[in-house]
Amino acid sequence: MNSNASPDAFDVRPGEVEIDLPADFDAGIYFIGTIRTPWKTREECPKNPREAKGAVCTIELDARYRAGLTGIETFSHVVVLYFMNRARRDLIVQVPRHSGVARGTFALRSPVRPNPIALSVARLLQIEGTRLRVSGLDCIDGTPLVDIKPYLATVDAPLGETPPPASTQA
Ligand SMILES: C[S@@+](CC[C@H](N)C(=O)[O-])C[C@H]1O[C@@H](n2cnc3c(N)ncnc32)[C@H](O)[C@@H]1O
Repeated sequence: MNSNASPDAFDVRPGEVEIDLPADFDAGIYFIGTIRTPWKTREECPKNPREAKGAVCTIELDARYRAGLTGIETFSHVVVLYFMNRARRDLIVQVPRHSGVARGTFALRSPVRPNPIALSVARLLQIEGTRLRVSGLDCIDGTPLVDIKPYLATVDAPLGETPPPASTQA
């Protein structure tokens, strides 16, 4: 496991492949807030937004970015990007527990990836200053927030495409 990996134990299962990550990062990012959820551990977390079954979470945006929310109330859903800070980053082939089938990291929604950035489309329920109440997140309480974007059905929902198999969900 590389030195940037989390304090959490992610066991390497038979069939999984570790790689050496580059010695240096290519870019830096700002965490712009924190996500508050009912879940304290990975095990408690829903696997995906559907499994969250409408659980209400709070996105706490840092005050300096407040003006960036101007106009957000006109959207029913937002794309939320968050940093899976407890995930190891060095597995390039993974064997999800639920399927037992090896898949490349880029064919999975696993938090374990070189850049552990997660994405969910969340329903915007309420805005109180810099706190957004949403449903449709699947992360541990305290997960760092990377970005918020409006969800645009006309652009983001592929038209007439076949949905991917459920086995890509972990
Ligand atoms: C399968 S990922 C999907 C994340 C996102 N919806 C996506 O598709 O990019 C969700 C899982 O990541 C794990 N997880 C949640 N918060 C995490 C964190 N802060 N660090 C590492 N793993 C986390 C939990 O096991 C949770 O069930």
